[in-house]
Amino acid sequence: MKKVLVATDKPFAKVAVDGIRQIIESAGYELVLLEKYTEHSDFVKAVESVDAVIIRSDIADREVIEAGKNLKIIVRAGAGYDNIDLAAASEHKVVAMNTPGQNSNAVAELALGMMVFMARNAFNGSSGTELRGKKLGIHAYGNVGRYVAEIAKGFGMEIFAFDPFVSAESMEKDGVKPLKSAEELYSSCQYVSLHIPANAQTKKSIGFSLLSSMPKGATLVNTARKEVINEEELLRVFEERPDFRYLSDIEPDAKAEFAEKYAGRYFFTPKKMGAQTSEANVNAGLAAARQIVDFLEKGITTFQVNKF
Ligand code: 3PG
Repeated sequence: MKKVLVATDKPFAKVAVDGIRQIIESAGYELVLLEKYTEHSDFVKAVESVDAVIIRSDIADREVIEAGKNLKIIVRAGAGYDNIDLAAASEHKVVAMNTPGQNSNAVAELALGMMVFMARNAFNGSSGTELRGKKLGIHAYGNVGRYVAEIAKGFGMEIFAFDPFVSAESMEKDGVKPLKSAEELYSSCQYVSLHIPANAQTKKSIGFSLLSSMPKGATLVNTARKEVINEEELLRVFEERPDFRYLSDIEPDAKAEFAEKYAGRYFFTPKKMGAQTSEANVNAGLAAARQIVDFLEKGITTFQVNKF
């Protein structure tokens, strides 16, 4: 009997686990559940006997992939797959997939939610500001960026986007103004919402020159990855610009320095929670389970992100 491991340090909602189990067991496979594990070695051990794995932000490094002697497929239930060692997966002929779009609305709602929270001074009762009429720059116009635009439109924001991989026409169709460079986006918009993936090109790419060019009262919203920020340079902007604010879905490495010097100008979720809704868990988790069954039964490789 084939075995499918769900390895989630940050577990899915129960309703999603039930749905995954139903799909896996209906296919005649066994579901193995490893939730809230504390040691990476627990994941390495659990992968030893399984054919397929579903993960979230769990680290599927070379050690995990090489431990999976029967492993044929690993699906990241979510968008970003920077937590999978793709080279190791390809070397061992393990198919790696993501489930694009399935948790995007949840992430977008958090981005806008954090913006409202900060604009209203963390709901502390003092007089804040409104989002209506403010310029919002969406950095990367993929699945999450599109939802952010849709929701921000309801708030009456003026929306811009920069994405070299998306046509100006498709942005314009959504009522979004396309810009030609990141420089133009940051220097034009008081709010910037980040949706770029973390890879060799983007890591530490958001730094002093872009951030310091933002207009007065600037707020950077990061529901992407902390790795894309050059934290040292962000701290320099914080030092020089008392008006600058940072919202991040996951604490930065320099969280102690923010806490010590810049109280009230930032908000960080303690654990990445953009996709932490029942709806997103169901969408992404069930899509991952279906993709595994489709691959193991019919060899369907839609959403494969590695090559071999
Ligand atoms: C993603 O890449 O899909 C999001 O960052 C969500 O990650 P999570 O599944 O760990 O919450």
